[in-house]
Amino acid sequence: MCGIVGAASSRDVTPILIDGLKRLEYRGYDSAGLAVISSEEELDLRRSVGRVVNLEKISGSVSGSIGVAHTRWATHGRPAEHNAHPHTSSSQVAVVHNGIIENHQDLRAIQKEQGFPFSSETDTEVIVHQIDWHMQQGKDLFKAVQSTISELHGAYGLGVVSKQEPGVLIAARSGSPLLIGLGENENFIASDMSALIPVSKRYMVMEDGDIARVTSDSVEIFDASGNPVERKIIVSTLSDDETELEGFAHFMKKEIHEQTRAITETLEGRLGSDSVLELAFGEQAREIFDATKELKIIACGTSYYAASVARYWFEEFGIKCDIEIASEYRYRKHVVNPGTLFLTISQSGETLDTMAALEMAKTLGYSNTLCICNVPESSLVRASDLTIFTHAGREIGVASTKAFTTQLVTLLMVAICLRRRMVGDGRSIDSMETEIVQELRSLPKQIETVLDLEEQIIAMSKHFGTKEHALFLGRGAHFPIAMEGALKLKEISYIHAEAYAAGELKHGPLALIDEDMPVVAVAPNDELLEKLKSNLEEVRARGGKLFVFADVDSGLVTDEETMVINVAPVHSHIAPVLYVVPLQLLAYHVALIKGTDIDKPRNLAKSVTVE
Ligand code: G6P
Repeated sequence: MCGIVGAASSRDVTPILIDGLKRLEYRGYDSAGLAVISSEEELDLRRSVGRVVNLEKISGSVSGSIGVAHTRWATHGRPAEHNAHPHTSSSQVAVVHNGIIENHQDLRAIQKEQGFPFSSETDTEVIVHQIDWHMQQGKDLFKAVQSTISELHGAYGLGVVSKQEPGVLIAARSGSPLLIGLGENENFIASDMSALIPVSKRYMVMEDGDIARVTSDSVEIFDASGNPVERKIIVSTLSDDETELEGFAHFMKKEIHEQTRAITETLEGRLGSDSVLELAFGEQAREIFDATKELKIIACGTSYYAASVARYWFEEFGIKCDIEIASEYRYRKHVVNPGTLFLTISQSGETLDTMAALEMAKTLGYSNTLCICNVPESSLVRASDLTIFTHAGREIGVASTKAFTTQLVTLLMVAICLRRRMVGDGRSIDSMETEIVQELRSLPKQIETVLDLEEQIIAMSKHFGTKEHALFLGRGAHFPIAMEGALKLKEISYIHAEAYAAGELKHGPLALIDEDMPVVAVAPNDELLEKLKSNLEEVRARGGKLFVFADVDSGLVTDEETMVINVAPVHSHIAPVLYVVPLQLLAYHVALIKGTDIDKPRNLAKSVTVE
């Protein structure tokens, strides 16, 4: 999703801007651009469609000590050079923008009457013309941006430079994250601290309504009322270590294989010999869990499927649990029972719908807010009462893998803590808790055994290369695992894939079954296995081709219609964490055959910071 980098320095900022944009590539984007004010005080603008490397190729001659840069993920106007940011007005002012301006049509109509020519279909272009107009009325750059933002409806993170004030970079934020990075004789802005790893360790988070005047040797921030404010300086813990492929062909493959280590780290320090150590979740955890009678979980995408699996655990343990997609939750009315914990799940911590849902929830009387997240320096973390980090390490592939399995492990630990309060005094440990803790301990080793199935999965993937559709089936907690498997396949191979609870097959999707519709199923040896086997028979009876990941003791065997890959026996609670791994590998190898851009699938973004 869109990314912003800006710099004011005493050295040439072009390499800093290009490097920063490359570091934001993982978020997903379709075009990129930069604007730098040269030593001759000219605004040098370069934009290109596609990768940042395309922009780099055309920016060789650009140099100057102040500038802004952007990666764009199209919302208003198709991906094209003329729609890429920065947008300029009268060759005087350049703006980069994240977010969506809702009143852009009204402003566009007025500006057209004022004689401003439009060169893009974006909502952003009205911002730069509005700033230009205010400057034409005699305002300096800061005041012009301040007046402009008071006229905008919607969400924005902005970086603005003007050749009339060549040493000044203005930043403004409302609803879209923006940070100010501090350096020696240079300062920066960025939508995400990872853009600034090599140049800045210290940063300030701008709050909604803030506007900042940034130069190479000063940073002044003003709140929405125009009062000067201090924002806390945070020392970043991000490093470069996790951004190398280390011999893997793709980050997704690397991240699938990292799940053994990632889950070990998620569990690290949180398990005692026979119990979950809830104090390891932070001082407030006990108080928050004590106050929890039921749960409302909100998330998007893969994180929502983690919530969907966790609901089976919570309800098995006697804890009422509602789950909902953030974009739906935020636009309807709610009845909140006393003692309901509002839990958000997000790998990035920046998903706008999830963040907006949390902000809304805070006004609705939930007992507390808890966030399960992978990124320490993220917006959701800052806004939640308590965060439990998943410790997956940086995930770069857009299709989430290790972030998902570590979310599941974290959710199971939370479920165990709440279960204690349902079955006992909230402090004592019973044999079932001890049993699940042993299951969790065994998980990293079990994941290794599934990763060892890769050769068989490669053979299976060859059956999918020419297919246009696929159906995924599961039952119980493995229904959301089937959904996650289908999501992985469609995200990176562009094959249309749908998941069904296997019992629903006869209510519609059975009509689709023929030899061109591969049916993938997950079949652990649980209490629903026999029911699932009947459903698979329904597919076989209609000439469907089955691809099944099945417990070695399931009784399912490979024959002409069915290809079975055996999975070692696994305890029921952790089975969903295990069974998703072969589905991730299957999607990966099908995508490899299809030759798609696996780490950056078309049209998708890692961090979705617009509605
Ligand atoms: C995007 C990503 C998905 C992710 C979803 C929710 O669509 O591509 O991988 O599941 O956003 O993101 P979050 O960061 O909130 O988990």
